[in-house]
Amino acid sequence: MLTIADLKKRMGDKVADVERVMLKVMPEREPKSVYGLAWDFLNRGGKRVRPYLLLTAIEAFNGKPQDALEVAAGVEIFHNFTLVHDDIEDNSEMRRGKPCLHITHGVPLAINSGDGMFAHVFRALSQSKLTPAQKDRVLGMFADAFIGVVDGQGYEIDWIENNKWGISEKMYLDMAGGKTGDLMAACTRIGAYLGGASEKEIEEMRLFGYEIGLAFQIQDDVLNLVGEEEKYKKEIGGDIREGKRTLMVINALEKLDKKRKEELVTILAKKENTQEEIQNAIKMLADCGAIDYAKEYGNRLVDRAKARLKVVRNAEKKEELELLADMFVKRET
Ligand code: IPE
Ligand code: IPE
Ligand code: MG
Ligand code: MG
Repeated sequence: MLTIADLKKRMGDKVADVERVMLKVMPEREPKSVYGLAWDFLNRGGKRVRPYLLLTAIEAFNGKPQDALEVAAGVEIFHNFTLVHDDIEDNSEMRRGKPCLHITHGVPLAINSGDGMFAHVFRALSQSKLTPAQKDRVLGMFADAFIGVVDGQGYEIDWIENNKWGISEKMYLDMAGGKTGDLMAACTRIGAYLGGASEKEIEEMRLFGYEIGLAFQIQDDVLNLVGEEEKYKKEIGGDIREGKRTLMVINALEKLDKKRKEELVTILAKKENTQEEIQNAIKMLADCGAIDYAKEYGNRLVDRAKARLKVVRNAEKKEELELLADMFVKRET
């Protein structure tokens, strides 16, 4: 049986390969105002789960991951690009244990270096070892993911900027599925496709990625409230300050009495909060059972996703993907 330690070792090996190729995709060159900032960010680490997912999905169908290293590196750099822009959009403070790029270097240069990452990803894709037909298909899947991220971000930012409440669970799932699920889905479907899976199998793998991506986002939102900052490496309670309509907030707004509900909405709607307000909001979410509700929801999503792995041909890789899916909801980092 595969253990978490085995999984971490395998992830580490794959990540080392991907990181070497990331340097080819995104060069470390002049101007520093672009590449210096980009590498300040890329070198902060990050879990690199997306390229790992893509390469493992190839192996799941007994394909060769070596030919897809540029694509895997591209997915990771693309993810980093979305984070740089997301931190500006969310007015966030900390990323991977350090001040966000727009805080250290200003918004204009942060936006531009994010765009730089994006640009190099597409060049790398066009220069990769894939066949013309594969490039065409992978590019389309990449575009689907980017559109998903943009749509998801659009919903969420609109709710916050325009003070919209009355968000249903379905609206939340569509939003989070877009901002986080669709990129994970791109990893698993690109991997399945390059590994030689059938169209039906590719679709099951897309759904697997989408569902574990959603669960990953839900767990992220849980950790934002009850995680440890040294492990989570982002501002604890940041989602409260940013006014995020998480699954927990939506659930709490259904459960709380009128007075508490108003109290929670008032705290979330404020642009800045005192520590006391943030702690109060977290306590309300915990006491009404909304945090437990979200954890259970994430677990159910992972169970549903794992059932899709029936299509996987390589038994060892199936076990690896199952363990990874479990890790998505058990993680503290
Ligand atoms: C952060 O993603 C954004 C979310 C989808 C919650 P990760 O948690 O994968 O970020 P890094 O790359 O490990 O920093
Ligand atoms: C993560 O969104 C998804 C994207 C970056 C597109 P969040 O805003 O929820 O994630 P964190 O908390 O900033 O990592
Ligand atoms: Mg954010
Ligand atoms: Mg965001």
